Amino acid sequence: MATILGIETSCDETAAAIVVDGHDVRSNVIASQVDLHRKYGGVVPEIASRAHIEKLDAVIREAMAGAGCSRDDIDAIAVTSRPGLVGSLLIGVTAAKTLSWLWSKPLIAVDHVLAHVCSPAIDVNPAPWPAVGLVVSGGHTSLYRVNGFDSIELLGRATDDAAGEAFDKVASILNLPYPGGPEIDRLAQKGDPDAHAFPRTMLGRDALDFSFSGVKTAVLYEVNGPGKTTGGLEKLNPRQIADMAASFQACVVDVLVGKTMRALDQTGLSAVALSGGVAANSRLRSQLAEACARRGAAFYAARIQYCTDNGAMIAALAEHLYHRGERATLNLDVSARS
Ligand code: KG4
Ligand code: ZN
Repeated sequence: MATILGIETSCDETAAAIVVDGHDVRSNVIASQVDLHRKYGGVVPEIASRAHIEKLDAVIREAMAGAGCSRDDIDAIAVTSRPGLVGSLLIGVTAAKTLSWLWSKPLIAVDHVLAHVCSPAIDVNPAPWPAVGLVVSGGHTSLYRVNGFDSIELLGRATDDAAGEAFDKVASILNLPYPGGPEIDRLAQKGDPDAHAFPRTMLGRDALDFSFSGVKTAVLYEVNGPGKTTGGLEKLNPRQIADMAASFQACVVDVLVGKTMRALDQTGLSAVALSGGVAANSRLRSQLAEACARRGAAFYAARIQYCTDNGAMIAALAEHLYHRGERATLNLDVSARS
C-alpha cells in the first residue's frame, strides 16, 4: 500500500492528485484551461505549456493540502510522460523530477492512455480484469484486452479522427463552443436521435478499428448541402440543430457499442471497462450499460470525474507500477506517442 502523488499535464488540464492504495483518492485537483483555448476552437500547444507552468505549483500544493499530506507521507511521485503535447508533458515531467530529487522519492513514468484504460478500476476492488477496455478520448479511441494492470493488449484503434475529435469538430460545424463533447451531449437531450441516418462505419466484418471522419463529413454536408461546407447553419432552427447533434451522437455511440460487443465476441471475455473523456457522455454510458446487460456482461464505467484528464488515474495506475518495481530516472524523457 503506497501513497502516491500523481501529476498530469499532457494536454490542457493541469492536474495533481494524492491516491492511497490505488483506490483511496484523497485529493484530485484539476485546473482546466478551456477558457484560454475556447476562442481558438481547440488546444493551442504554446498557450497550454505556459498555463501549465503558471498553475502546476499551486495545483500540486492544493492536492497535498487537500489530502492533508506532507512530503513525508508520499511514497512516490508519478507523472504522465507520454503520449501528449511534448511541451505540456515536459512541464509535468520537469516538476516531478524536481520533487523526486528534492524529496528523495522514487519517480514513476505513466502512460496516459493506459491510465485511462485502468481508471474504471479506481472504484472497483478487486479489479474488474479481465475485461475489454474501451478508451474514448479527444486523442484516442481504442479497444484493449485488459488481462491485468501489467498485461494490456491493443485490439483496435481509430484509423483517422478519434471519437472526441469528431465530437469537437461536429460541435464546431454546429457553432457550439469548445470543447464540443459536453455541448453536444446537452443539446442532444432535446433532439431526435433518429432524425438523420448518419453512416455507421463498421469497416470490415471482424474489424475492431474505428473511423469517425465519415460521419463528421456527413454532418457537414447534411447541414450545408451536398459538397458545401458553409452557409447552411443559419437556415436551421434550434430544434433542427438539436436533431443534428442527437443523430450524430447516436451514430458514434452505435459504432462504439457495436465494436465493443464485437470485441466481447472475439475475446470471449464477459466484462467491459469504459474510460476517457467521451466516457462522460450520457448516451454512451447508458447504451453500453444496456448492451452489456442484454448479454450478461459486467459493465464498469470510470466515475465521471476520472473520465476527462486527471491526476487520480495517473497515481492509481502508478500504485501497480510501484509495486512491480518500475522506477524512472532523472533522465526520463517525454514522447508524443503511446
Ligand atoms: O480524455 P480527455 O480529457 O483528453 C484526452 O486525453 O484527449 O478527453 C477530452 C475529450 C474532448 O474531445 C471532449 O469533447 C470529450 O472528451 N468529452 C465528451 C464529453 N465530455 C468530454 N464527449 C462527449 N460527451 C461528453 N459528455
Ligand atoms: Zn486523456
